[in-house]
Amino acid sequence: MSSDVAIRVEGLFKSFPIYEKPHHRLMQMLAPGPRERWYREFQALRDVDFTVRRGETVGIVGRNGSGKSTLLQVICGTLAPTKGTVDVHGRVAALLELGAGFNPEFTGRENVYMNGSVLGLSRAEIDARFDDIAAFADIGEFIEQPVKSYSSGMYIRLAFAVAINVTPDILVIDEALSVGDEAFQRKCFARINAIRDAGATVLFVSHSAGSVIQLCDRAVLMDRGELLAHGTPKFVVSRYHKLLYAPAEKAMAIREGIRSDTAAGISGSSAGDDATDAVVTQDGAVAVDAAYLDEGMVPQSTVRYQSRGATIEHPRIETLQGRRVNVLKPGGEYIYTYRVSFQDAAVAVRFGMMIKTVTGIELGGAATAPQGASELVAIPGQAFVARFRFRAMLAPGVYFLNAGVTAHDVEGEIYLDRLIDVEMLRVMPDEQRVATGIVDFHVLPDIAVEMMT
Ligand SMILES: Nc1ncnc2c1ncn2[C@@H]1O[C@H](COP(=O)(O)OP(=O)(O)OP(=O)(O)O)[C@@H](O)[C@H]1O
Ligand SMILES: [Mg+2]
Repeated sequence: MSSDVAIRVEGLFKSFPIYEKPHHRLMQMLAPGPRERWYREFQALRDVDFTVRRGETVGIVGRNGSGKSTLLQVICGTLAPTKGTVDVHGRVAALLELGAGFNPEFTGRENVYMNGSVLGLSRAEIDARFDDIAAFADIGEFIEQPVKSYSSGMYIRLAFAVAINVTPDILVIDEALSVGDEAFQRKCFARINAIRDAGATVLFVSHSAGSVIQLCDRAVLMDRGELLAHGTPKFVVSRYHKLLYAPAEKAMAIREGIRSDTAAGISGSSAGDDATDAVVTQDGAVAVDAAYLDEGMVPQSTVRYQSRGATIEHPRIETLQGRRVNVLKPGGEYIYTYRVSFQDAAVAVRFGMMIKTVTGIELGGAATAPQGASELVAIPGQAFVARFRFRAMLAPGVYFLNAGVTAHDVEGEIYLDRLIDVEMLRVMPDEQRVATGIVDFHVLPDIAVEMMT
């Protein structure tokens, strides 16, 4: 293996026996020969080839059950491959799924020593680092308590504190960070960056597209045990999203498309990054419309609350030229629009909208008039089209939209119709982005040099 390779996996297969009934496991143990099979094989990994160079930070994304954790476990040696080879070069510190690593009966302190020695540190080396580990974990008196009394957050704090303080050559993290609170997560990301800057290799499974784009040099997409795509984090994350929101009948075609993109080698180039920008048709023409409309991106959480005499129809996002899109350029101007047909008469009618994060935080929206100030009257059979022009001043990621119509009746202002999560949009990654956080306030930073006196 060449010296700049940290991890090399070749032709890797991993299968698990699946027993239909619990007693089949016993029957298998009693079976006279290898011909008698009481199980079927489930392929958790199939023919995975994968190389991580020294000093690289590589993210692994994929749907639940796609084989991410299995791949990490095989790399860390806690699972044996069924077929294929795994070469790992250097000291590996791993944070695998919760439960691995610590002995619940022993105290935090005892576990730090056991874990440290498993990772190849001498007692003296652990002595020298213990205070740093305890300080990073920051679990107070609990360090002297048995680990079985820990909350899952405390557990992961200690595990992470050990993993990053043993100065690993290779740090492997499986989703573990999502367990800690936000302050701790930020502390961990800062430390991962420091470890990476010191030249270590980091392999990292995450469902957070933001973390992968922020932290990783490269990413891979696992799907049904297969390594479906590899390339720049943005390329891989955009393919992952495509797959995640694919309607069942299109999933296979989308999968094949991703596979052939990667095979065609557009995954690492800057052209590959922005493959959402333009779809090149066979004759070489660019069909820009399709590129900004991901038909698979349909919210699965839509709720219609009220429908009292008015109906919201055809909610959609359009470009200023009126073309339907849902993949937006950061900072670009768009129009969110829907039609409302009135079955009953209504007075003081207002139309509204709201943009929210995946976690439901309301980022911002607007109504067509201030509360109590609308003079719009609707009569039965009439329809209106509400249009909300906005700028996508948002971090790359997925967002959801609401739509609502209100009017005045004897009770005061009421909803005539209201749809939650009726549309979703994705803001594309932006290499030039200097804004941080979710909302881009268009901050204009500048730097002045101050002369020393
Ligand atoms: N010990 C096991 N026995 C049988 N099947 C297993 C075993 N371990 C994993 N699997 C199966 O292998 C597949 C891949 O699992 P794996 O845990 O690697 O997925 P994952 O990508 O990490 O998913 P998640 O995002 O939910 O963590 C799943 O279908 C899982 O049910
Ligand atoms: Mg997993």
